[in-house]
Amino acid sequence: MNVILLGPPGAGKGTQAKRVAQAFGLKHLSSGDILRAERKAGTELGKKAQEFMDAGKLVPDDLVVSMMVAQIDGPDAGDGVLLDGFPRTRLQAEALDAKLAGVGKKIDRVVDLVVADDKVAGRLMGRRSCSKCGAVYHVEFNPPKAEGQCDNGCGELTIRPDDTEEVVRQRLETYHEQTAPLTAYYRDKALLREVDGAKTVDEVAVSVESACR
Ligand code: AP5
Ligand code: MG
Repeated sequence: MNVILLGPPGAGKGTQAKRVAQAFGLKHLSSGDILRAERKAGTELGKKAQEFMDAGKLVPDDLVVSMMVAQIDGPDAGDGVLLDGFPRTRLQAEALDAKLAGVGKKIDRVVDLVVADDKVAGRLMGRRSCSKCGAVYHVEFNPPKAEGQCDNGCGELTIRPDDTEEVVRQRLETYHEQTAPLTAYYRDKALLREVDGAKTVDEVAVSVESACR
């Protein structure tokens, strides 16, 4: 099974993806996490992506498509992939369809996490992330056991550089302009299932899992 998690920045894609991937034996592929790893490693791709990410804009399609296609094709794709943050434009969605069709696969479910802009902004402002294991926390809604420390023993939690008020505003604008139209693309293919992402993490998890069945 291949699943796409759609939704605005801060909708809870990463939070839910980790659970769903485990529940269904899928490989979790977060385009944002992969790009951040490229930046950390100082690769050419990471250097090219940096200015777009810091400005809250999308990294150019050609760069992201080739990066994600290489991952989807990987030997450890297991029983399928759970895509988090990809595709984000119509061109990316079409490239993904073409890639999967070429290897006899397809997208089986698209789950859209629906959350209002004012709510996601509050989530992003309080987010704390572990750059080592990828765990995601929130100072109020999902606090770590010890303040500022990852529960998995990785050490200090960090604040993502794009979680500032100004960049969050730009990320939301980018989302509404370029990514939100994908819901119509997948609705037309009868793949879209909407989930109320404004509920608690556990409540959303139950709805996402049932939307994947
Ligand atoms: P990316 O890393 O994908 O960021 P994003 O889409 O902006 O989404 P986030 O990761 O910020 O939010 P999320 O939905 O994963 O929420 P989370 O679970 O963390 O992309 C970053 C950048 O990379 C982009 O801006 C772009 O430049 C580039 N990029 C990436 N993919 C690209 C692509 N395909 N094409 C081009 N460019 C691309 O949760 C957020 C917070 O809320 C956490 O604190 C969490 O604890 C809390 N929370 C989660 N769920 C709940 C809940 N139900 N109730 C209360 N709090 C909750
Ligand atoms: Mg994320």
